[in-house]
Formats: sequence, structure tokens, C-alpha cells
Amino acid sequence: MKIRIGIFDSGIGGFTVLQRLGERFGDISCIYLGDLARVPYGSKSPSEIRLIASELVHWLRGKDLTAVLVACNTTNSIAMDIVERFSIAPVFGLIDAAAQMVNAKNIGILATPTTVASNAYSKKILELKPGVKVIEQSCPAFVPMIETGKISKGQIEEIATEYLKPLVKEGVEEIILGCSHYPLLLPILKELLPLDVRLIDPALGMVKNLDKLVVINNTPCGKLLNFSNTRFFVTADPIGFADRAKHWLKISPEVELISLRSKASVF
Ligand code: DGL
Repeated sequence: MKIRIGIFDSGIGGFTVLQRLGERFGDISCIYLGDLARVPYGSKSPSEIRLIASELVHWLRGKDLTAVLVACNTTNSIAMDIVERFSIAPVFGLIDAAAQMVNAKNIGILATPTTVASNAYSKKILELKPGVKVIEQSCPAFVPMIETGKISKGQIEEIATEYLKPLVKEGVEEIILGCSHYPLLLPILKELLPLDVRLIDPALGMVKNLDKLVVINNTPCGKLLNFSNTRFFVTADPIGFADRAKHWLKISPEVELISLRSKASVF
């Protein structure tokens, strides 16, 4: 059977999911959709996120997919039911995957303002692991910073230190990177945290959950992935997106511009 995986995010956050997917399954066929016309999602209202999710999933319906990976925690937290209702293919999320990866009693979450306001992480973790302490920290500056790339390491460190302060003060043992953009900051976050704090990338758990659908392709460890079987689509700025793909994924993909507005549905 031909495998084809659909991945969507507001922008380049889904790169971190694509990376994990490639590490686990090799250069499998993917359709990547980045909604650059509307990034960032993390400061949008729940009703906007739900409408956008409906548009994205309707577009993906025509793509003959084996699975849909919701590579956006904000959509996971607010509109998973919409994606599941309208997707033809099975849907995989980051929040469920992350909650399964929790292994400590005192957990911190870094996420977008909309994800934090939804309490989706706390609810899911407490459902699976009652009694665990969860503290959620909203990080409004991270996504705009990562998407534009126009900020120095020093500035990122300054902002990240402020976001991490309440979590460090609470003595969290594990921190979930509850926005798919944040693993792009992993080396900086690691440097700022005590050595014994474990950082959790939900995408690792998410791609493991795909094992029932996709056979592991034993990509030799360290082999550079070229994502030659991935088609990239964006709703704006294909040139900027290609630049960022070059920077983060070390590839020069052809990026196709699409419009989603007509795909909206009433729900
Ligand atoms: N990367 C997405 C997330 O995981 C969206 C972030 C945004 O656009 O604000 O939440």
C-alpha cells in the first residue's frame, strides 16, 4: 500500500515533526501544509482556530492520505474534534502523545497563549496521571521570533529566561515543548535550564504512534534527510518559506502557493 502522510502547522513549526517522522521512517511521502497567511495561530481566538482547522482539513481530504498529523498544538488544543470529524484519514495529535511521555510528578508546559488558555495539556496529563503537578507557561514572543528569524541568540535567551523562570522556581522535573516551533530552540533552552530538567518533544511520541500504520524504514543513524518525497504547500510567502526550509532542514524545496478560503465549511 502506498503511504502518504499529511502534516499541517501555521508555519515552520511542523518542520520539527517532519524531522522526527524522517528519523523514524526515512524519506516517506508527505504533504506539508504551512498556513503562513495566518501565522501565528497562538494569539487567535478559539473560533478562528476552529474555522481555520476546518479549512485545512478539507483541503487535505483530497490528498489520498494514510494519516493526518496535526503538527500544531494550538489546533490540537482547540479544534481536534473538527479535524477528526472531517478527516478521511486517521488523525494523530501532539498533546495525547506528550501526555503519554510524562514520567515525573512536577511538569512544566511551554505553549502558545491560546493553548495555555485552553488548559488542554493540564487536562490530558491529569486524566492519564492523576496527582501530577502541572504548570503552564505562555510564550507569546517565541513563534513570531522563530518565523521571522530576525532576532539574535542573546535576545532569544533574554526572553526565554523570563518564560522559564516560573517553571524553574517551581522545580519542574520535565518540560513539554507544547508548541511545534519550540524544538527549534532546543539548544538554547537546554543551556538555560538545570541539567536534570528533561525536555519533552511531543513529536517523538506522535511519530511512534504511527507505527501501526507505517513500517519502520531503518534510516541509517546520522544520515542527512533530504525530504525528496515531501511536497510543500503554503498559503503565503513561498519564497520566505523556502529560505526557512534551507536554514532549518538544509533543503531547497519547490514550494507551492495555495488558497484555502474556499475550503471552509459550516460546522
Ligand atoms: N506551531 C503551532 C503550535 O504548535 C502554532 C504556533 C503559532 O502559530 O502560534 O501551537
